[in-house]
Amino acid sequence: MSTSESEWRQKIDPDRIPGHVAMIMDGNGRWAKERGLPRSAGHRQGVETVRQIVRFSSELGIKVLTLFAFSTENWRRPAWEINFLMSLPEQYLHSELPELVKKNVRVKLIGDPARLPEPVRRAIDKGLRDTGGNTGMTLNFALNYGSRMEIVQAAQAMVEADRQGKLRGPVNEALFTSYLYTAGLPDPDLLIRTSGEYRLSNFLLWQLAYTELWFTDVYWPDFNPVHLLQAVYDFQQRERRFGKV
Ligand code: FPP
Repeated sequence: MSTSESEWRQKIDPDRIPGHVAMIMDGNGRWAKERGLPRSAGHRQGVETVRQIVRFSSELGIKVLTLFAFSTENWRRPAWEINFLMSLPEQYLHSELPELVKKNVRVKLIGDPARLPEPVRRAIDKGLRDTGGNTGMTLNFALNYGSRMEIVQAAQAMVEADRQGKLRGPVNEALFTSYLYTAGLPDPDLLIRTSGEYRLSNFLLWQLAYTELWFTDVYWPDFNPVHLLQAVYDFQQRERRFGKV
């Protein structure tokens, strides 16, 4: 552990670790460009960051970690980059699944799996199966995820349930939430976005209603446990009122 890491660890209250942390992992392309490397090199280094941050988050006691890995808008990228991005979850799970199982981490997916290539779906299904009984941190991958699509699909499913006379009670926030991909998960306490962009980019729009937002200029491939500790420290200094005085 680096000095800086142990110093930051001492500053944070271990009893008030944010339960659910969501991350927009941005800046892989710019990280690569600054080094004269192809964008793929940035994504590859981004996967290394994912490995490190997943390990660290689970040790820190974060209960749910949601990572935005591929958005419904990312299909607009060139075919080679889509293919490259699509190969990453598979590679990651292939090498990390044994450790995730050992560390009691449970893998989950949010997003529409329908358009994901077959090998990705298979790798994810195996991840879901092999970690389904785990009770430690939930590692939630947002893949082919878009928040507006999620909300529209929830509304469609409710209309359909109503048509079939199967709607379970009045339409309220709790019922609506139960139709989202994130059903059963708590809302994020903390959202982190890297690379100096201040946008939500169609990520968890419903779920982030009361979330604390934290932005850093650091590109995702350079993001490390010290940055996460800094974000948690800032989170712990804030007063969350949820609309109350
Ligand atoms: C945004 O950077 C990043 C993405 C679109 C992909 C994020 C994916 C990873 C970090 C790897 C995922 C790993 C696993 C295991 C699923 P950008 O390409 O938009 O960067 P730029 O804005 O600098 O061009």
